[in-house]
Amino acid sequence: MIPTLSPNDISHVVEADRAHVWHHLIQHKPFETTDPRVIVEGKGMRVWDAKGKEHIDAVSGGVWTVNVGYGRESIAKVIYDQLVKMNYFAGAAGSVPGALFAEKLIEKMPGMSRVYYTNSGSEANEKAFKMVRQIAHKRYGGKKHKILYRDRDYHGTTITALSAGGQDERNVQYGPFTPGFVRVPHCLEYRAQPEWNPSAEPYGVFAANQIEQAILREGPDTVGALCLEPVTAGGGVIVPPEGYWERVQEICRQYDVLLHIDEVVCGVGRTGTWFGYQNYGVEPDMVTMAKGVASGYAAIACLVTTEAVFDAFKDDASDPLNYFRDISTFGGCTAGPAAALENIRIIEDEGLLENTLAMGERMLANLEELAGRHAVIGNVRGKGLFVGAELVSSRETRQPVDEVLAQKVVAECNAQGVIIGVTNRSVPGFNNTLCFSPALIATADDIDAITSAVDVALGRVFQ
Ligand SMILES: Cc1ncc(COP(=O)(O)O)c(C=O)c1O
Repeated sequence: MIPTLSPNDISHVVEADRAHVWHHLIQHKPFETTDPRVIVEGKGMRVWDAKGKEHIDAVSGGVWTVNVGYGRESIAKVIYDQLVKMNYFAGAAGSVPGALFAEKLIEKMPGMSRVYYTNSGSEANEKAFKMVRQIAHKRYGGKKHKILYRDRDYHGTTITALSAGGQDERNVQYGPFTPGFVRVPHCLEYRAQPEWNPSAEPYGVFAANQIEQAILREGPDTVGALCLEPVTAGGGVIVPPEGYWERVQEICRQYDVLLHIDEVVCGVGRTGTWFGYQNYGVEPDMVTMAKGVASGYAAIACLVTTEAVFDAFKDDASDPLNYFRDISTFGGCTAGPAAALENIRIIEDEGLLENTLAMGERMLANLEELAGRHAVIGNVRGKGLFVGAELVSSRETRQPVDEVLAQKVVAECNAQGVIIGVTNRSVPGFNNTLCFSPALIATADDIDAITSAVDVALGRVFQ
């Protein structure tokens, strides 16, 4: 497939980009001598850049987003039809796709009940934090307002979302942060904390008990919520160890702490279940989601709560301040829920959850096979099509490879026409995990092509 712009148009676009666009999360100095990347077209698993070069996209739009793949005419069509009928009205009113998508979503989330629309993952998390704070004021005289978050997790880019951010390279230079956020240890067994005694208890129980320790240290009457990613994404693709979630749930119940699960990456199919938490039988109080909800065809994010959380905001209608006094202008855009409904239909009709499980297994097996030949792969982990390979300079010491080398692997894959990711400006010293999150439509050939490119790239960088 050839990009539809002529070569002249394209070089103008690249120059306009170089002159005027401030790209996300990237140092721009190199663009003084090299071209910025401009992606022109996408179809299925593949994208074409401004030079016409074809790539397999193994990271769904770079950041785990385009779950149903590129070029979906049916999604574009429902968005078009919705926009010409009714594009926007503020979210104090309902909309047809907003109501229907909420109904569909709740079908997929037994135990949950209410959908609050917003427009980014960061903002959805902020809404959840605001609810926790308001509940603390309404029920506990403001005292039970602290929010626990975990080392290596990420919940967004705004100052308060960063206050709950466990990736220090994202946070540094952006403080001071919002008070009342308390960090708990991560649960990556490969990097287990030295205090863990394997003969005393399984790692999952140890890591969860660290959360209890934090609650006891802070005082249970001051802790309102615990915010966790079900599988940590940018902090290193961390699949929680056995027993972890069961114990976390117990602790939250014991200390009356709301459980807020950030499904911004895992939500809507990425791990082979509708939601990541459903792999672990967890019953959350609040769930946030964004990226895969409409696969990037429209901006949409949601905060979903139980009826009990919702009820806390309508228990005294005579008090004019006793409801959730919050708005998100673009949470009233109808393109998002219209696209999200079609996105779910595609996942159902094309059996993409099943495909995600099968292709995820294949990708893990392929990477394990590579680990047999490349000593630099220290650990392979993943759930569904959400997979990471941690690179180490020594398996014995588990010393992470220098991030420059990890980035070279990404560049060598890119040179072969395969876009992969690597943990980036995340945990200091640990920008060493290769990340894979192909669209849920990936075929066995796609998966093999991705891991073959990694094989070649590792050979070029490390041998
Ligand atoms: C787990 C998680 N939560 C929240 C966010 C923030 O989402 P957004 O970039 O839509 O604000 C991200 C973004 O990468 C994320 O990975």
